[in-house]
Parts: sequence; structure tokens; C-alpha cells
Amino acid sequence: MIWNATLYNEKHSFVAKYGEDVLGWLAPQKDEQILDVGCGTGTLTSKIAESGAVVTGIDASPEMIAKAKQTYSNIEFSVKDATNFSFNKKFDAAFSNATFHWVKNQQDVLQCIYNVLKTGGRLVYEMGAKYNIESIHNAVKKAMIEEGFEARTNTEVNYFSSAAEQAVMLEKAGFTISNIIQFERPTALVGKDGMKNWIIQFAQAFFKNIQKEKTETIIDKAVAVLKKTNYENGKWYADYIRLRVKAIKK
Ligand code: BEZ
Repeated sequence: MIWNATLYNEKHSFVAKYGEDVLGWLAPQKDEQILDVGCGTGTLTSKIAESGAVVTGIDASPEMIAKAKQTYSNIEFSVKDATNFSFNKKFDAAFSNATFHWVKNQQDVLQCIYNVLKTGGRLVYEMGAKYNIESIHNAVKKAMIEEGFEARTNTEVNYFSSAAEQAVMLEKAGFTISNIIQFERPTALVGKDGMKNWIIQFAQAFFKNIQKEKTETIIDKAVAVLKKTNYENGKWYADYIRLRVKAIKK
């Protein structure tokens, strides 16, 4: 998947804004070594750095890492696959916001993080939980079927696991769960084209190899369906459900 870093920063900065709340669970301390997994354009990585911690940001997207490096030249960023990475140093803590659901093999992500943490190190992350943005994906799939692309509706775009599934994976990796919560967080999108922009950025995997005009028709149809349920008082909303975790490497 190719990430449009400009669209992300201009229309979807709420991802990092909400992520600031997750930083409260991380509570970064001066001089701690902290790893930000799926750092995107580096907004939250730089917030962590403000605490005086030494932060390293990794992301699978070269486009996002290029933008992060350009914006925050004082922070170390590198392109790495979250399911297969290592470092020649250990971290006091690892952090991740809105990343895990882009990875099918979340067990490997947890294992890689576990391996790079010091004993006693903490992992804090938030991700989309089971049934996250279900209305949006359903509307896109319905429009795809209407336009003759039923087979493509099986595309695995995200994996939203339940708290129970995540707990099993954490324990298998060796973590002890310190806190795990799930909550609904309807999220206001930006501007009159908020839903359209959201689909263009975050549901693009559905449209791989579908012609541009057809893709536009599908998106317009999905937006029209969603107007009945996800549009209120002139604002678009996405039906986000969050899973937030703090776990320790004992
Ligand atoms: C999320 O943060 O939950 C999310 C964002 C974009 C696509 C899918 C999920």
C-alpha cells in the first residue's frame, strides 16, 4: 500500500491528535530509550521526544519515513517491517498508535517488540478493535458488488482483533497484561469530503487494479449510502472502536 503522506497530514491529523491520549499511558521519561512502531509522519514520535526520551521511529512506508525525516531531522527514523525487525540495542518502552490493524500477523509484531525490550520494559499501544469502521467497509463492499467486483470484496485490508484475541497473543509473546480496554470513539472527519478522503486514503487496497473511473463510482456510491448513517449536523463520522493496551516484559 502506498501512503499519501500529504493527505495524511492535511486531512487525517486527528489520528495523531487522538494518539496523544495514548501517550498518557506510556508516560515517557527523560533519557529513556523508546521505540515508536508504525510512526507514520513522526508527529507522535516528536511528542515522545519532547519528554526528553530518546526515540526511534520505524514504519514500513518509505513515503511516511521520508516525510518524518524531513520534518524532524533530530529524530532517528528508519523503514522497517513491523513483523520482522531487530535492533542492536534494547528499549525501555515501545509505543504504537493505529498501526497493528494494518498487519495481519500481529503475533510476529508482538514478538519482535518483546525481543527488543529490556526486562521490565513496557509496551503501550492502541489499535482498531473488532468491528472497527464496520459501516464504512460494508458500504464500500456493497458498492463494489453493485459495480461487479464482488470477488475483490475479500481483499484483506485490515485485521481488527478482539481484546480476547489480543490478550492471547500478548501472553504467547511473553507479555504480562497490565491494562486492556476497549471503547467506542465515533470520530469526526475533516470537511465536506471527509468520508470520501477517508476512503481514498484508508480503503485504497480494495481498489487495486480497478480502473480510476470505476473506483470513483464505487467511492461515490459508498459515500451516498453512508450519508444516512455517518453524517450528522454537517459533519462526517467514522465508527471507530479502540483497543488500548499496556503490557510488561517481566
Ligand atoms: C483506525 O485507526 O482504526 C483505522 C484507520 C484507518 C483505517 C482502518 C482503521
